[in-house]
Order: sequence, then C-alpha cells, then structure tokens
Amino acid sequence: MSELSPVSAPFFHYEKGELYAENVALLQLVQEFGSPLYVYSRAALQSAWSKWEEAVKPYRAMVCYGMKANSNLAILQMFARLGAGFDIVSGGELERCLKAGADPKKIVFSGVGKQDWEIKKGIEAGIFSFNVESISELKNIIKVATELRQKAYISFRVNPDVDAKTHPYISTGLKENKFGIDLAYIEEAAQIASASEFVVLKGLDCHIGSQITEIDPFIHALERLCVLVKKLKAKGHPISHIDLGGGVGIRYQDETVINLNDYVSLAFSVLSQQGLDDVQMVFEPGRSLVGNAGVLLTQVQYIKQTGEYEFAIVDAAMNDLIRPTLYDAYHQIIPLVQKEHIATKVYDVVGPVCETGDWLGKKRPLAIEEKDYLAVVSAGAYGFTMSSQYNSRPRVAEVLVDNDQYHLIRRRETLADLYAQEVML
Ligand code: LLP
Repeated sequence: MSELSPVSAPFFHYEKGELYAENVALLQLVQEFGSPLYVYSRAALQSAWSKWEEAVKPYRAMVCYGMKANSNLAILQMFARLGAGFDIVSGGELERCLKAGADPKKIVFSGVGKQDWEIKKGIEAGIFSFNVESISELKNIIKVATELRQKAYISFRVNPDVDAKTHPYISTGLKENKFGIDLAYIEEAAQIASASEFVVLKGLDCHIGSQITEIDPFIHALERLCVLVKKLKAKGHPISHIDLGGGVGIRYQDETVINLNDYVSLAFSVLSQQGLDDVQMVFEPGRSLVGNAGVLLTQVQYIKQTGEYEFAIVDAAMNDLIRPTLYDAYHQIIPLVQKEHIATKVYDVVGPVCETGDWLGKKRPLAIEEKDYLAVVSAGAYGFTMSSQYNSRPRVAEVLVDNDQYHLIRRRETLADLYAQEVML
C-alpha cells in the first residue's frame, strides 16, 4: 500500500510535498513546539461531530462523547460548545468535563468500580445517569444517595453477550468480560432499585466493544435490550432511554467503516418495530469523534541496519502512543516532507524505550534520512490519554490547528515535572 498520503485523515494533506493540518504546515509546528508533538485539526473534530449530529437529528437522541479517547480541556470545551454530552468513567473525567463547560444533564457515568466519592460527585452535579454495572454497585449508589438524601438517576449496563468482532482487549459485551450486569439478573436488580426512593431507574445501556466495523453486533445487542425494556415497562419501571454505548470504528488503513446514518436509522427502526417509539437513544462515541483528527509527529533520530532489518529509531515511543504494541494496532506513518531523491526502504519504526515492544509501525516503506520528521496518522483517540512517563520521558505537548491558526493546548512537561510529586527521604 502506498504510504504517500494520509489514507484516513481528510483534514491532513500534502501541498507541494509538505504535510499540512488544514492550512498549517506541520513542519512549522514541530519546529516551534518541538518533537514529539500531538497535533489535532479543529475542522476534523467539528466534521466528525457534524456527522453524528446529522445522523441523530431526525430522532430523539443524545450523543455523549466517550471522553477517555481524548480528554484535553480545549477539545472537551469545543465539544461542549457544540452541544455534546459526555460519557465519563471516573471522578477525574467528571471534574475535567465540568471544568470544560459540560452540561451535567448530558453526562452518563460508566465504569465497573465507581467509588463513593465519585458517586457523590456525580449525584451532586446532577448527572443524567449512572450506568450501573453490578448489583453491588447498585446497592452502594442507593447507600450514597440515601445519605445525601438526593436522587440518583440510573440505568443498568447490560452485558448482552454479543460478539463485537473486534480485538479481544477492546471487546466488552461477552459473558467472560467484566462489564455490565448479566441479562438474567436485570429484573432482580430492577426490584432492588424500585425499593429505594433515592434511585430512579430510567434506562438500560450496553457498550459491546471498540473499533467495531459492522452494524450487526450493535443491532443484535439492541434487540436484546428491547426485550428487557418491554419486560421492565410491563412491571411499571418508567424506562425512557436506551444507551447503545460507543464503539464505532474508524479507518486506520483500509477498513470499511460503518455509515452513521445507516446505523442510527436502523437502530431507531428496531425501536419502532418493538413498539418503543417513546424511548430516547443515547450514543457514546469516542474514537469516531477524535481518532482521525489527530497525528503524532516524531523525528527520526537514527537509522540502523541489523542484518536484514532496517530500523528508523524515532523520538516518540510506546509511552507516547501505546496502541501499536498493546493492540497490534496499525497507524499509517508518513513523512512531513516528501523526498523524491531518497530511496524508499522498508523500516521498522521504533522508539527509544528499553522494551522490544516499543514500536510504532513495522515494515513501512519510507524515503527518509536521519533528522527527518514523520507523522503517525489517526492518533487522535487513545493516543495522548494513554500516554505515560515510562523511562522518565516527559509527556509531549498538544497543539490544535484551526484553519491557518494554531493553539498550544497542553505544554510539554519539563524534566522537573517528572518528579514534581515525589518526596525524597
Ligand atoms: N462508552 C464506554 C462505556 C466505553 O467503555 C468506551 C470505550 C466508549 C464509550 C467509547 O468507545 P469508542 O467509541 O471510542 O470505541 N484504548 C482502546 C480502546 C478502549 C475503549 C474503551 N472503552 C484503543 O486504543 O483501541
């Protein structure tokens, strides 16, 4: 496959052999802010949001950004201003999105291990719903809400036992996964909820996995949820929403991705067929809102040949982008400046971290020299948010491009930041 243009990131393009984000040359950014560097395109973020907005417009639906994909305050603020809700999984994410201007009434709180302080913070903020993942958690929410004498609105995250047909580490809707409440226990859980005046059961939800490229598994899960919703309604529980979670995949290489209009309209036609027209739908997209909107820029430090292998050793590493080594994920890698006079060779692109698993791409045809810059494409989701300081490497800076303007939205950590929280004996 040709590596010469960004396959999956329409707001990044070459102009006279130089890679641009919108109308800003990436070389200029890396020269100003240093390398490695995450760069996001505001137009790409907005366009991804518009696709979701268009798809849900004819229906009663709420889109809650799965913010674990990228939780930079500027990006959250942008989505909040566009009217997005948020799917959160920790008190820290709640703090971040409120700080960025989120409307609490559009926040859903997922996660299997919510602690008392997080539940309290959610109730006090007045969030739309806690997505409850076990009967123990339900009992705990009842306890915290009763102590506060405030109502907690909840939905049950159902484990629908469907195969999302994605990487096993990002598959969440199977019985063997830790997520959600088994279908068989939902009615018992509903009874427990209705015994308390401080919790209000108002929905069911599921999240079956991530980077899903077929609609079928979602529809399969929805059908299972509909059966339960009807049972619960018949018993008098006022179920008013179904949350289908996130999971819509993006194009990293040559994947055929889901058409959002098809997905959303099919989901609503299932609701109709089941006589559930009064039910609102919630979606929690993460990757599909930010994945293709970001790149990780990195500089080639050394070119090294060992036997038949050619390595491009770059200054970004698994601590900056862990997806390749953790999920065997493919990210396209392309030069910031195309060089026609240099021979194309096939490289393993690796970082400086002392781990064999420290690679960003394998067997990549590239025409490069030492000190050249590369872009690791489609790194806007689960890139920076999963980064760490492993090997005492300061976390990198983030820049948001907006047409011909750009903003530093997170400064590079300094060496002193590495141990700022530590205390010597
Ligand atoms: N809702 C819930 C409850 C989730 O757990 C997730 C992601 C989302 C929504 C958003 O899913 P998305 O639309 O982004 O697929 N680190 C992995 C992905 C882990 C996804 C975890 N949950 C990766 O880099 O591929």
